[in-house]
Amino acid sequence: MEFPVKAGAPARHRTECAILPVFDDRQLQGATKEFDRAARGAIAKLIRGGDSPARLGACTLVHRTQGTAAARWLLVGCGKRADFSAKRLTTALGAAINTLRGGGTKEATSFLGYDTPLKASDAARHSVEAARASVYRFDELKSKTDPPSRLAKLALGVKSGTSSSEVRAGIKVGSAVAAGSDLARDLGNRPANICTPSHLADAARNIAKRCERMEIKVLDEADIRKLGMGALLSVTQGADEPPRLIVLHYKGASAKEAPTALCGKGVTFDTGGISIKPAPKMDEMKFDMCGAGAVLGAMLAIGELQPAINVVAVIPACENMPGGRATRPGDIVKSMSGQTVEIINTDAEGRLILCDAITYAKRFKPRCIIDVATLTGACVIALGHVYTGLFCNDEALAKALLEAADRSLDLAWRLPVHEEYGESLRSNFADFANSGTRDGGASVGANFLSRFVDGAAWAHLDIAGVAWRANANKGATGRPVPLLVDYLLSLDGQ
Ligand code: BES
Ligand code: MN
Ligand code: ZN
Repeated sequence: MEFPVKAGAPARHRTECAILPVFDDRQLQGATKEFDRAARGAIAKLIRGGDSPARLGACTLVHRTQGTAAARWLLVGCGKRADFSAKRLTTALGAAINTLRGGGTKEATSFLGYDTPLKASDAARHSVEAARASVYRFDELKSKTDPPSRLAKLALGVKSGTSSSEVRAGIKVGSAVAAGSDLARDLGNRPANICTPSHLADAARNIAKRCERMEIKVLDEADIRKLGMGALLSVTQGADEPPRLIVLHYKGASAKEAPTALCGKGVTFDTGGISIKPAPKMDEMKFDMCGAGAVLGAMLAIGELQPAINVVAVIPACENMPGGRATRPGDIVKSMSGQTVEIINTDAEGRLILCDAITYAKRFKPRCIIDVATLTGACVIALGHVYTGLFCNDEALAKALLEAADRSLDLAWRLPVHEEYGESLRSNFADFANSGTRDGGASVGANFLSRFVDGAAWAHLDIAGVAWRANANKGATGRPVPLLVDYLLSLDGQ
C-alpha cells in the first residue's frame, strides 16, 4: 500500500473517496468543515437529518459530493472531539478502511489526521499502521480466497504548512512497523506443520538477506548440545522436529556500543509435553512462537529503518511434544548457566528455553536484555487481552518501555518480580524447580527467568494475552512489534 501526502485545500483534492471525521458535538471541524463549506452545507444537512455517524468507528458513505473534487465522502464517527487521540484515530481509520476494502475503491484520502492536536508525524505513523492492519488477511492456505483488497493507495491529507518531511518520517516508521507486524502475524498464523523451528530460521535468513548490516547464525541441535543448553534440550527431546537457536545481529552502530538483546520464545507447538494440555483450544498453541515472531518482526522493521544502534536477537525454537523420549516430570537438567532445574511440570517449557537463550545473550555483553514470550495463562487472567505484562528489574528500562508502549499504542502494564514469588520454586533435589504455585503464576514465571540474568538490566514481556485473538477473529495480532520498534528507535542518538 502506498501513502502519498496531500497538502492544500482539502475539498479540491481529487480522490475516489474522502475520509472525513465527524465528532459527537456535531460542530463540523477541520477538513470536514471545509468540505461542508464547499458543498454549501450539505454535510451539516445530512447530520441534521440524522445521518450522522456519531459512534466511534461508525461510517456513512455519501455519493452526492457536489462542490468538492472527491467522488465520494466517507463520514466516520470519531466520538467526542475533546477525547480524540491517536488510539481513536486508528479505530476510526480501521473502520473506514474496512468499509472500503471490500468494494472497488483503489485510492482514498484520509483527513482524520488533518486537524488534530496530534503531532503530524504521529498521526501519519498511526494512520499507516491502522490501514495496513485493516487490510491484512491470512489466506495463503485457502484454495478459494476472497479477491484481494483493491485499495492500493491511501493519501494522507494534511494542512498546508505542515512539515511534509515530518509526515514522511512518520509514514516511514509506520510502514516499517506494519511490515514487521505483518511478518509476526504471518508466522503466528501459520500452523505448526509449516511454521517449524527451521521455518523460523528461514524467516530470519530472509531478513538478513533483505536488510543491510544484519548478520545471521543458525545453530542446530549438535551446536546447542555443545553449548550445554540442557534446559532447551529437555523441551525439544520429545519431538521429531529438530530445534534451532537463531541469532540475528543488527550492527547499526560501532562495535563499542553495547547491543540491546531481544530473546523471543519460539515454541512452534506447545502440547504441554507429558504434562499434556486438555484438548479444547489446543490448536491455539501454534501461537506459542509469537514471542519469536514479534522479535523477528521488530528486527525486520529495524533492518528497514537502519537506526544507529546495535541489536542482537536470540531465538530458541522447538516443539514441546510428549513421547517415549520426552522429559518426565521430576527429571532434572542442567541449564547453560550451570544451575540445575527440576522439571516439575513439562508445560512450563517457555522459561526453560528462554533461560538458556538469556544465558547465551549475555555473551554479547548487552546493555539490557528484553525477552518476549507467551509465557503464562496467569498473565491472561491478570491483564486480559489489553495489556502486555511487563516485568523488569531496572527502573529506567521499565520507564522507557512503558513510554514506548504509550507512544506506539501497544500497551503494557507493569507487574511485580519480587523475590518472594520464587519461594514456591524451591526444590529438594535440584537448585530450583521450573514451576511453583498457580497463584501469581505470571510473577513466578518472571522470577524463574530473573535467576538467569545475572546482574544485567532485564525486562520480560508476557504477551500470552495479547499475541493473538480467539473466536471469530482468530489470528495473530503482531503485538508487541510496535512497542519493541518504538523502544529501539528511542535509543538512536542517545
Ligand atoms: N504457552 C503456555 C502459556 C499460555 C497458556 C499462553 C494459555 C496462552 C494461553 C505456557 O507454556 C504454559 O503452558 N504455561 C503454564 C505454566 C504452568 C505450568 C506453571 C500455564 O500458564 O499454565
Ligand atoms: Mn506450556
Ligand atoms: Zn508454552
